[in-house]
Amino acid sequence: MAVQLDVKFTGLRFDNPFLLASAPPTESEGNIMRAFDAGWGGVVTKTIGLHPVVNVAGPKTKFLRATPDSPHLSMEKRAGTALHSSWNWELISDKPLDWWVPRIARIKRAYPSRVLVASIMAGSGSDEELGHWQTLAQECQGAGADALELNLSCPHMDRKDMGSNIGKDEAQISIVTQAVKAVARVPVWAKLTPSTTDIVVEARGAFLGGADAVSSSNTFPSLPLIDATTLEFELNVDGLVSSGGLGGPAILPQSVAKIAQMTQAFPDKAFSGIGGISEFSHALNYFLLGCGTVQVCTAAMLDHAIGPNVVQALMAGMRRAMEQRDWTSLEDFRGLRRDRVVAHSRIRRPDAAGYHGGYDGAEGYAATEQPADATKS
Ligand SMILES: Cc1cc2nc3c(=O)[nH]c(=O)nc-3n(C[C@H](O)[C@H](O)[C@H](O)COP(=O)(O)O)c2cc1C
Repeated sequence: MAVQLDVKFTGLRFDNPFLLASAPPTESEGNIMRAFDAGWGGVVTKTIGLHPVVNVAGPKTKFLRATPDSPHLSMEKRAGTALHSSWNWELISDKPLDWWVPRIARIKRAYPSRVLVASIMAGSGSDEELGHWQTLAQECQGAGADALELNLSCPHMDRKDMGSNIGKDEAQISIVTQAVKAVARVPVWAKLTPSTTDIVVEARGAFLGGADAVSSSNTFPSLPLIDATTLEFELNVDGLVSSGGLGGPAILPQSVAKIAQMTQAFPDKAFSGIGGISEFSHALNYFLLGCGTVQVCTAAMLDHAIGPNVVQALMAGMRRAMEQRDWTSLEDFRGLRRDRVVAHSRIRRPDAAGYHGGYDGAEGYAATEQPADATKS
């Protein structure tokens, strides 16, 4: 039987489950159209807000690279290195809503069957701010956006009522999601921050607020490294740095762990997996744990800005894996390994009787022998 790459996710049909994540690859009309031409099943716009945004002086993103067979890590560009991670302190789109609205409309007119998701963000400290979320939602869906992704996860916001600052608060997540759902005619996805103690709590907040899906993860809070020669941070402005976000290969296992927690807690809910994906074997982790789509940022940034080779390789890898195993659609393997992540105590030990989950043994066990000299005097 022929393999089918197309998927249904939150009621929308995608040509394939590979999306460009909200970030520089999706910051312009030209990029988004090129991305659809390249084959991406969907695109999430760079986050759109109502307030003007001014980025830092100097680079907003850099890439940390590892030297094979050496512990050396540096952002310095050099031959023969492997990508470790991306680091960014870029804010949301510096283009206002009225710049985006006609562009969303034009993109949808040119690509009516492709899925365009508008990423939006506002504050949450007042009814007026909740109204801003609603304005953003209504304008973007009015222009033709197929879905909305709520940015509850940007790790470098000064405002306490924005981005990952509210993404750590389940009540705020619920309130914002509810406010958007009250006006939304299209599916609403909540993009969560990985920077919390138990992401299941925040996911519950999103679903209680009516979210149709959770996207995870945004970048992990981190700093650039200090150069041992200059004693300066490898990325700084006037010697100063601030917490930014880590993406790329380094976060793949961590993002996968976050997804596993949530898909186990909410096996019937929809999840879009993000973090460290650059080839199909990476994406497969997210699918096997229950995700219905995945999103890519860092790998696409490094491949002609929008990832034409990355998406072609993702599709070819998916097709190959499905043919090898006689899978016909994503539903044949989605969630197949979700139940393999268990409590530590369920992992087999050579001496099961001797393991008490980190507690003292049950009463009646022989007392531990005292060392010979401890019994003296
Ligand atoms: C330079 C840069 C800018 C980003 N801007 C946004 C943004 O505006 N909105 C958002 O939701 N995520 C933003 N992200 C996060 C990405 O969408 C993605 O969640 C993250 O990079 C992890 O995916 P990756 O490992 O494939 O890079 C940005 C990431 C980078 C590197």
